[in-house]
Amino acid sequence: MQDSYCVFGNPIAHSRSPAIHSAFAASTGENLSYRAILAPLDDFAGSVRRFMAAGGRGANVTVPFKEEAYRLSTHLSDRARQAGAVNTLSFAADGSIHGDNTDGAGLLADLQNNLGCTLAGRRILLLGAGGAARGAVAPLLAAHPACLHIANRNADKADQLAARFHGDVPLHGSSFAALAGQQFDLVINATAASLAGEPLPLPAGLFAPDALAYDMMYARDGTPFLAQAQAQGASRCADGLGMLVEQAAEAFFVWRGIRPATAAVLSQLRHAP
Ligand code: ATR
Repeated sequence: MQDSYCVFGNPIAHSRSPAIHSAFAASTGENLSYRAILAPLDDFAGSVRRFMAAGGRGANVTVPFKEEAYRLSTHLSDRARQAGAVNTLSFAADGSIHGDNTDGAGLLADLQNNLGCTLAGRRILLLGAGGAARGAVAPLLAAHPACLHIANRNADKADQLAARFHGDVPLHGSSFAALAGQQFDLVINATAASLAGEPLPLPAGLFAPDALAYDMMYARDGTPFLAQAQAQGASRCADGLGMLVEQAAEAFFVWRGIRPATAAVLSQLRHAP
């Protein structure tokens, strides 16, 4: 019998995860099925229990259930604990639920391996202080940037997020306005501003020469943040499709112990009709 996996979300109809994991299964020769499941907004836990009872081995979790998946997990990886959110569940035979978070690893893999971006010694700006930003902080700090600055509409939240981490890398939180006069080599958008269709109030001169603007979101026709970044002088732009494929590869590794190649899948998705 095939091992079965799924992704829970709401909405979920347009999820790329089934295509990505099916491609990984084919390329690694792993015998598994993977489908998308629409979980009711008020019954994520019930959906997980039903999938487990039907023999499910693991699941990805996407918007808006990552915090609930964190609370449902009976065991948490360090990176899930640091992110305060879970995007990868593994179900053990004894009914225990292991929660992990592969989003940060996916972001780093995309930046470093796919985009050839060196993070060590670079000035990094992270925009946003919600769940998506929270998962990125520890992996970014581990790459030894010159500094990491977190800016958020609600500056207190940026301050609080920065205060959760301690180490050698200078780490600060602020409002967007307080960014005036500073320059960064890498600017990562982890806000939901694009969804609201609102531009971020980014001061002029934020992007250093050769700066990369990275949006955790992706859209076929580019994202509002990347259009704004280009207009403000970012020399390179990348959306989050690579992060999506890389977090999936890391989840596949968590479940199967095999690391699938990602380049062909990413290029297929990029050029899919
Ligand atoms: P996620 O888990 O996707 O990060 P979230 O926890 O709701 O979602 O966080 C959303 C992030 O986008 C927050 O940083 C939020 O800023 P606030 O903390 O000030 O609310 C940011 N955000 C959402 N809409 C925004 C907008 N129109 N302009 C700027 N930032 C926005």
